[in-house]
Amino acid sequence: MIPFNKPYISGNEAEYITTAFQKGKFSGNGFFTKKCHSFFEKEYGFGKCFLTNSATNALEMAAVLCDIKPGDEVIIPSYTFVSTATPFALLGAEIVFCDNQGDSPNIDVQQIESLISPQTKALVVVHYAGLACDMNAIMEIASNHNILVIEDAAHSITAQYNDAYLGTIGHMAAFSFHETKNVSCGQGGMLVVNDTEMFERAEKVWAKGTNRIDMERGKTDKYTWVDHGSNFYPSEITAAMLYAQLDQISLIQRKRKKIWDQYYTGLASLEELGIQLPTLAPYQSNNYHIFFFLANSASERDALLEYLHASQILGLFHYLPLHRSPFIKKKQPSEKAFPNADKYADRTIRLPLFADLSTDDAHRVIDAVKSFYKANQV
Ligand SMILES: Cc1ncc(COP(=O)(O)O)c(C=O)c1O
Repeated sequence: MIPFNKPYISGNEAEYITTAFQKGKFSGNGFFTKKCHSFFEKEYGFGKCFLTNSATNALEMAAVLCDIKPGDEVIIPSYTFVSTATPFALLGAEIVFCDNQGDSPNIDVQQIESLISPQTKALVVVHYAGLACDMNAIMEIASNHNILVIEDAAHSITAQYNDAYLGTIGHMAAFSFHETKNVSCGQGGMLVVNDTEMFERAEKVWAKGTNRIDMERGKTDKYTWVDHGSNFYPSEITAAMLYAQLDQISLIQRKRKKIWDQYYTGLASLEELGIQLPTLAPYQSNNYHIFFFLANSASERDALLEYLHASQILGLFHYLPLHRSPFIKKKQPSEKAFPNADKYADRTIRLPLFADLSTDDAHRVIDAVKSFYKANQV
C-alpha cells in the first residue's frame, strides 16, 4: 500500500533529543524552543513566535488574545478543518460562515464585507494547501472595519503572498507541525503574533496567564496570575524534534516539489475530461503541502478513491464543510447555502504526498488515476 503520508525523519532527531536530555530541562521554553523561535523569526520575518502543542492550540491562544466573548462574531470559511472554528466557539463566539471561492478553496473575499456586523471581532482566513488568500484585499477590509485577522497557516510554512511569507501579514497566524505537515514533531504548532501591541500579553497567555517569563528575565522575583491563559508550551523534547527538521527544510521542500511537479505533469492531460488541477494566482507561491484536484462529481470522486484503494494506494478527501456539521446544525440552524464549500467537500481528492515518496510510487499513483479515467470515460 502506498500510504497517504509518511512523516519525514531528518536523522538528527535522536541527537537533538539527547541534547535536550543532557540540558536537563524538559518542560518547555528552554534551549530548543528558543532556537525554533529565533529560526522562524529570522528566516521568515515573523513577529513574535510561540511554539504550541498544535495549530488548534495556537488558534486557542489567538482566540484568547482576541478577547472573544459570548456575543462576538467571527467570520471563517465553511470549507476548512474544524480547528479553524472550535477555539472561537469555545469562548462563546458565533461562527459566521463565508463561502469559499469558485476557483480556489480559499475564502471568497468578495463576500466578506456583507458578513460584517457591529459584533464582528475577527476574521480567520485559511491558506488552503499553502496557497495564499488575497491578503491585501483582506487586510484592507479588516482595517476599514477594525477587525482582527488571523491567518490559519496550518498548511503554509515557507509559502508566500507576493514577496511576504504567509504568517507575517495578519495580526496573528497559526502553523501546524502535525506529522502530516511538511515539517513536523508529531504534534506541534506555533502562534505568530505580528501585532506589536499584543506581544506582552501574548507572553502571559502562553505561560498559563502568568508573568512567569518576566520572572525568568529577572523583572520580578515571583510570578502570579495576571491574565487569561493556558499551558500552551510544548516540551523541549518536542521542540528538539522540530528543530531537527528545520535544519532540513530546504531539502524537504525540494523533495516535495519533485513529487508535486511529477503529479501535475503526469495528470495534466486529464483536464480535457473536466478534472480541475490546482491553479496558482500570480500572488501565490507553492509550498507543495497538498496535491489535490477536483473530480467531476462526488460519485466520481468516491469511485476513484475506491479504485485507488483497490490498487493499494491511499488517497483521501477532506473537509466536510462546517456549515453542514452536526454541531453547527444544532447550535446555529440556518438554511444559508455555501455552494462552493459543498463543491470542494464533494469533489476534492488528495493524492499521497510526502518527501520520501519515490518517483516510481508517484508513477504508480499517476497510472492508477489515469487508468480509472480510461475505464470510466465521462
Ligand atoms: C486548516 C487547518 N487548520 C488547523 C488544523 C489543525 O492543526 P493541528 O492538528 O496541528 O491542531 C488543521 C489540521 O490539519 C488544518 O488543516
